[in-house]
Amino acid sequence: MDSIVVKGGGALSGAIPISGAKNACLTLMPATLLSEEPLTLTNAPRLSDIGTMTALLQSLGAEVASMQDGQVLAMSSHKLDNLTAEYDIVRKMRASILVLGPMLAREGHAVVSLPGGCAIGARPVDLHLKALEAMGATLDLREGYVHAEAKNGLKGGTFEFPFVSVGATENALMAATLAKGTTVLKNAAREPEIVDLADCLIRMGAQIDGAGTETITIQGVDRLGGATHPVVADRIELGTYMLAPAVAGGSVELIGGRRDLLTAFVEKLEATGVSVEDTDAGLRVTSQGRAKAVDVTTEPFPGFPTDLQAQMMALMCTAEGTSVLEETIFENRFMHAPELGRMGAKIDVQGGTATVTGVEQLKGAPVMATDLRASVSLILAGLAAEGETVVSRVYHLDRGYERLEDKLSACGASVERISS
Ligand code: EPZ
Repeated sequence: MDSIVVKGGGALSGAIPISGAKNACLTLMPATLLSEEPLTLTNAPRLSDIGTMTALLQSLGAEVASMQDGQVLAMSSHKLDNLTAEYDIVRKMRASILVLGPMLAREGHAVVSLPGGCAIGARPVDLHLKALEAMGATLDLREGYVHAEAKNGLKGGTFEFPFVSVGATENALMAATLAKGTTVLKNAAREPEIVDLADCLIRMGAQIDGAGTETITIQGVDRLGGATHPVVADRIELGTYMLAPAVAGGSVELIGGRRDLLTAFVEKLEATGVSVEDTDAGLRVTSQGRAKAVDVTTEPFPGFPTDLQAQMMALMCTAEGTSVLEETIFENRFMHAPELGRMGAKIDVQGGTATVTGVEQLKGAPVMATDLRASVSLILAGLAAEGETVVSRVYHLDRGYERLEDKLSACGASVERISS
């Protein structure tokens, strides 16, 4: 297993290109199952999760060709010869559940393994299933698999999500494009990845109104065509790298960064005293000295993203004052806290609330990655820590960050991958 060694030290200076969004790509790829025509994605990120989704789609009979060093995914589901998404692939990546809606809508039948939980929580899929039932599907849970049927095809229905779910909104949105009649999704997720998915589906011939708002209306069509679609910029990668100069000092330009993808996060970052300027190429973040402590509560979009909570905590560890971070989306998303504690951070976790008392300086230490976003918060903390930080189990990182060590090293950080 690889580790990443970070030597804390000087301020950063340079530019970081922002890649296509992992969480957009992972829902855009299953959309190919909705059509017999080719779907090509450009600006695709080169991440291990994309490889997992590629393997899953290929196991169903879809063709997926990765071109231009992985930045273009040419897909075609002319014929699906297997309608079962097996456990051994699904268990590796929860987003695999996103093949359920499209497969069911296209074929009237789908068998998908339940994904099971993960480090940050139980992460059930009950809302995915309820939304599909509202479109006339019958769903049976047998031996760890969802057996979904819609013999005469799905039919338009209305479903109100009891709370916001990104994945369930995506599954329902894709399924509804081929349902007979009109589907209305209420209290839908509003994330930019939902808007990107809707844009792609509309390019394929779907009739969708309201993506990005809490009510999405879909008029089903008989079939969808092909399309070529650019994956939207990754707002979580963007926020992560905006925090690098904030933690380490200096000034970094984020190429392709868009403020509108992260308004709540940018407002919080500016409240710590960090400056964020729009540039022709994206956003420039410049540290103005020691950050001030701010309080953060994670919320569905357009609120502060849960996927940036761990990274923000890394900044709060050396901020002036005490900050309170509330994690309202997942039940176990503070696993980075004890690892940051090994570096000298003062963090008190009580249930879904972490209270961070800023210290002057963290000290480098061997630490362990536990999940994707926790791992990168340890890297960020290492940028400003005195001495060397060795982050182990970085396979977590490779799921969501393309060439992280190259991108940070290009800005003067001492970040090196070592294979053990
Ligand atoms: C997506 O996960 C993202 N993953 C997550 O990013 C992100 O943290 C999350 O949305 C919230 O923004 C992808 O897009 C691939 P949810 P998802 O359904 O769809 C509960 C990362 O680091 N819930 O919005 O699984 C669930 O347990 C990952 O890139 C149910 O109870 O998230 C959670 O507590 C981590 N029943 C809450 O809702 C359901 O049927 C929000 O989950 C579905 C969800």
